[in-house]
Amino acid sequence: MLLSQGQRAQLRDYGFVSMQSEFDDLDLLRIAEDLGRPVPSKPGRSVISELRPTRSSSQQTETFSSVFGLGEFPFHTDTAHWPVPARFVILRDVGRRHDRPTFVLPLRMFLTVCDTKDLVASVWKTTGPMGSFLCSIVNFSNENPAVRYDPLCMHPVNQAATHVAKVLSAIRWKPIRFDWKAHMTLIIDNWRTLHGRGMSVVDDSESRCLQRVLIYKSDHLPLFPYVLAA
Ligand SMILES: [Fe+2]
Repeated sequence: MLLSQGQRAQLRDYGFVSMQSEFDDLDLLRIAEDLGRPVPSKPGRSVISELRPTRSSSQQTETFSSVFGLGEFPFHTDTAHWPVPARFVILRDVGRRHDRPTFVLPLRMFLTVCDTKDLVASVWKTTGPMGSFLCSIVNFSNENPAVRYDPLCMHPVNQAATHVAKVLSAIRWKPIRFDWKAHMTLIIDNWRTLHGRGMSVVDDSESRCLQRVLIYKSDHLPLFPYVLAA
């Protein structure tokens, strides 16, 4: 199974595409390989991972689940701590019925809220398991700007970044909402959108389960330490 031309066009033009069709893990990997290189989030992990709401725990490292538990997850880029973040993220509902949505925030909304001069001047320190590095929040060097933002692993280094962080934490976004249904798949362009997790009115730790596949695609860094070590 591969994406149709229309689905590809939607992903290219809007930064996300959703589909409602039943398929197996092999089809999921075929779609992923058609978009780039499916990679695990950590060495030794499966390329297809399962994301479930988890209660916060001081035992865990600083992950979204350990910090926010069953609450909302703020808007972020997946794998923002990688030298080049994953290009696409595929999410597929494989759980039982649940009411917790996913929100997608296109980069154009992000760019209308933040002052471009601040975005360009802002410097951020990103910390991950492999160490820290300085980076930008938006890369304007290509024809299509790319965003990298994760409030947990990225911290402002200069005044411009501090200003951007304040704006981002104060804004009430009007994102695109996805309410999950069985067999629904959502493909996100991880460079051109941010995404977040919404709330559930019940404890959905047993019912909500999303499969996730990260897709790596870079002309500059074809391999990165996580994949080399996996
Ligand atoms: Fe995410």
